[in-house]
Amino acid sequence: MSEVKQEVIFRRSKRVTLRPVLEQDVPLLLKWINDPEVSKYLKVHLPMMEADENEWFTSMHKRKPRDMVVAIVVDDKPIGTMGLHGIDHRQGHATTGALIGEKDCWDKGYGSEAKMLLLEFAFNVLNLRKVYSNVIAFNERSHAYSLKCGYKEEGRLKDHHYAQGKYWDQIWLSVYRNDWELLWETFRKEHEGFLMV
Ligand SMILES: CC(C)(COP(=O)(O)OP(=O)(O)OC[C@H]1O[C@@H](n2cnc3c(N)ncnc32)[C@H](O)[C@@H]1OP(=O)(O)O)[C@@H](O)C(=O)NCCC(=O)NCCS
Repeated sequence: MSEVKQEVIFRRSKRVTLRPVLEQDVPLLLKWINDPEVSKYLKVHLPMMEADENEWFTSMHKRKPRDMVVAIVVDDKPIGTMGLHGIDHRQGHATTGALIGEKDCWDKGYGSEAKMLLLEFAFNVLNLRKVYSNVIAFNERSHAYSLKCGYKEEGRLKDHHYAQGKYWDQIWLSVYRNDWELLWETFRKEHEGFLMV
């Protein structure tokens, strides 16, 4: 009997699907988070063990509704994760994190496409007014993709992060709903017929 493929979709655009993280993703998460070419851009530095990843996965539901993480899927393959953290309804803000672990998928616009879908959820469903994130100054790719999604620099913590034998600034970036809405208009037209939001 042929297997029926069950596709889980949380959000979708032309090339990107966001779906909940599944248990079957855990080995990939382990590969991505331990890859030094990926983790150098993140705050983690100690080796992540299978037990750490399993615990992270099984405890994820307990962090609702303040935190949510989704898998980024392209051509039916998970390539990374993206999330909203510290969702604060009183202040109307949350922070974001992203990790595309498949390095051959960098610089193809998947990150910004996924981020536009996540921001649509943050602004149009959660009714947040501001989403912020921080990036280590040498992570020019992350800085650039955030700007593409409407983020603007709000400030810097000088010499805040030690990596590669020296201290780097930590840059704080935010996107406000009004600024994002203008970009969303264009995005919506470009993705017409594909969008599931
Ligand atoms: C950061 C990340 C999510 C971005 O996703 P992505 O799909 O690679 O990003 P996009 O392709 O949408 O945008 C990247 C942009 O950065 C630009 N870029 C890449 N390297 C650059 C550099 N050294 N200087 C300036 N711009 C750069 C690209 O040209 C592209 O812009 P363009 O589309 O205008 O040409 C992904 O690369 C990633 O997960 N990296 C590793 C982990 C990480 O850094 N996470 C974020 C921590 S804050």
